[in-house]
Amino acid sequence: MILLQAPAKVNLWLRIIGRRDDGFHNLDSLMVPLEIGDQVRVERRSHAGIDFSCSGDCDGVPQDPSNLAWRAADQFFQQAGIVGGVRIELEKNLPHGAGLGGGSSDAASVLMALQRLWKNPLGTDQLHGIASELGSDVPFFLAGEASICRGRGEELSPFGKPAAGWLVLLKPPFSISTPWVYEAYAKMQREGKIAALSNEVSSGSMGAITLQNDLEKPVLQKFFVLRALKNWLLQQPGVTGALLAGSGSTVFAVLPEEQLARELATRASAELGASWWVRVTRLCGQTAKD
Ligand code: C5P
Repeated sequence: MILLQAPAKVNLWLRIIGRRDDGFHNLDSLMVPLEIGDQVRVERRSHAGIDFSCSGDCDGVPQDPSNLAWRAADQFFQQAGIVGGVRIELEKNLPHGAGLGGGSSDAASVLMALQRLWKNPLGTDQLHGIASELGSDVPFFLAGEASICRGRGEELSPFGKPAAGWLVLLKPPFSISTPWVYEAYAKMQREGKIAALSNEVSSGSMGAITLQNDLEKPVLQKFFVLRALKNWLLQQPGVTGALLAGSGSTVFAVLPEEQLARELATRASAELGASWWVRVTRLCGQTAKD
C-alpha cells in the first residue's frame, strides 16, 4: 500500500503567449506546489480492475471512470500491458474547480504509486506522455517541484527554491470551468479587449516575483465578487500581493509572516461567511527559518 500527499499548486505568474492550432494556449507559467493537498492511498488487489472511493470534500468530484485519477490508472495499465487490480482511495481536502490543481495532482500521485507498486514498468517519457494526455498540469505534479511550464503547460524547467512567505487561499462557494475561462479569454482577445485591460489590475509581488495571471482578465470581469475580494485583500495589513489561482475560483493573498496570514484568514472568514473555503499554507520546500 502506498500513501501519497497530492499537493495543491498556485501559478505565481501565468502569461498567455498565444492560441495554438489544437485550440489550447501556449503558456509561460511559474507553478509551485503548496504544503496543503489531498491524500491518495493506492493498494494492489488480487482481482483485476479499479476500485475507487472518495472521502472528504467530494462535492463535484466525479466518482466513476471519468475521474482523472481513475483514468490515470486505466492509462497506466494499458500502456504497461498489465492486467492489474488496484484500489484507489482519495481523501479530498482541496475543493473541485478551484484552480488549485487538485484533480491533476491526484492523477499524478496515482501514476507515481502504480510505478512503485509494479516496480517501474514505464519509462520516464511514457509516464510523461500519459500525464500530458490526462491534462496540461499533470506533468508538473509528476515532477513535484517549482517549475516554469511552457507549451500547454507540459514543457517543464525546474525553477529552484521558491520565494518565502505565507499564503491565504479563499475560494467562494462556486467553481469556475477552465475551458470556459480560456474560451472567454480567446473571445476577449478576438475583440481586442485584452490589451485595453493590460495595466488595469496590479497584483503585487511575492519576494522578487511580480505576480501576474492573464486569466484574471475574463474571470474578474465576470465574477465581480472576486475582483472586489482581490482589491480588499491588497489593502489588508501585511499583504504584499493577491492573485487569482490558475483559472479560479480561488484567490490567494501573500504575506511575509504566519501570524499575519492567520489574522487575515480569521478576518476574511468573518467577512465572507462559512460558505467560503479559507486556508493558510506555504509553498512547498520552505523551512522553519524562511
Ligand atoms: O489540459 P486541461 O484538461 O487542464 O485543460 C482544460 C481546458 O483548458 C482545455 O480544454 C482548454 O480549453 C483549456 N486550456 C488551454 N490552454 C492550456 C491549458 C488549458 O486552452 N495551455
